Amino acid sequence: MEHAVAQTHQDWLIRVAEIFTPFEEDLFRDLGVRRLVKSLPNGMRWVQLENPALLHESAALKFLRWKLPLEHAWPCQPQRMHGFVEKAASTLREKFAQRSPQAVVVGALDPSPAGRYYRTLASNLRGRALQMFEHVLQGAHATEQQDPERMSLFVHIGSEGLFAGMATPRAAGGYFPGGTKFIQQAGDAVVSRAGAKCVEALHLVTCFRPVPNAGSHWLELGASPGGMTRELLDRGYQVTAIDRAEMHASLIGHPALVIRRMAVADFPKPAANFYQALLCDMNGDSLAAIRQVVRLSAGLQQGSLVIFTLKTHGQSSYAEINALHDEVIRQSHPLRHLSTVHLNYNRMEMTIFFEAG
Ligand SMILES: C[S@@+](CC[C@H](N)C(=O)[O-])C[C@H]1O[C@@H](n2cnc3c(N)ncnc32)[C@H](O)[C@@H]1O
Repeated sequence: MEHAVAQTHQDWLIRVAEIFTPFEEDLFRDLGVRRLVKSLPNGMRWVQLENPALLHESAALKFLRWKLPLEHAWPCQPQRMHGFVEKAASTLREKFAQRSPQAVVVGALDPSPAGRYYRTLASNLRGRALQMFEHVLQGAHATEQQDPERMSLFVHIGSEGLFAGMATPRAAGGYFPGGTKFIQQAGDAVVSRAGAKCVEALHLVTCFRPVPNAGSHWLELGASPGGMTRELLDRGYQVTAIDRAEMHASLIGHPALVIRRMAVADFPKPAANFYQALLCDMNGDSLAAIRQVVRLSAGLQQGSLVIFTLKTHGQSSYAEINALHDEVIRQSHPLRHLSTVHLNYNRMEMTIFFEAG
């Protein structure tokens, strides 16, 4: 049989950030990985799970960038194959059209510049698949317009072949195959790389809830030099930025920005409902940081979004990171924990989304 299909739901594609590869053994144990079938580029792993029902309960989940049931695998060499796009699109239609995905999203396994050939191939395959799926696609065809709670067909291609499955963007970990979103920061206006983290967090949080309305007032803790502040201001938000250190010169005097150069602990508790969102990227002790977030969340409107960077530099093992994370969640009461993710632009840290009230 030319198409090696017939993968069961025991087969999954998971993506582990490079920074966590030293913990791969712990992750696989917690996830109940029975067998590593194949290592693919960019931290993607084809694994077989003992009990996929437990995947979404696992402490390991927050270390994964992407998790997709692998329902169709076609190990082949697309570059050498005549008519790959046509064959692949017909097979996808045959296998998945009757399940009416809301979108067909195709991406290269290797999204780096080296994977350029496959990015072009992915775009051609997506174009052809969209024509073939036209009769079943409901609503949003654009990648970023997917409903986070409806099933999409995600397809990965690379020199190793084609790998596809259906999941909601929320369950899989994003709107793009592999969970990758390339963030274009605005050239000379870049204040710090942390800005990309903020953009990615605002993108990914929509898997769980809407972003705050334009004009909302953010309280930002640990804001200097101001990469995130810049991104918030560019989106039409007001910001009160607190940091002991100075903000970048380009931000000073911005009409929607109030700068408080001080220790966060000295910032007085705000009046109720004063802010509509809170961002904390303070470095140092994450438990001290979450205590400040909880104290200052008294000034948040009910339902406000809180984005918290969990800094894990001091934790050298998988168990230590999990223990710190769980303690931060425990101490975050009365905030409501929505999700913990490891962003492409996170290093030895994770991003936690909470809601106030
Ligand atoms: C990773 S940097 C923040 C980067 C920033 N989010 C950006 O986008 O450019 C962490 C910041 O937290 C600040 N910080 C840490 N603890 C603090 C505290 N207790 N009070 C005030 N600032 C603090 C540091 O001064 C530092 O500027």
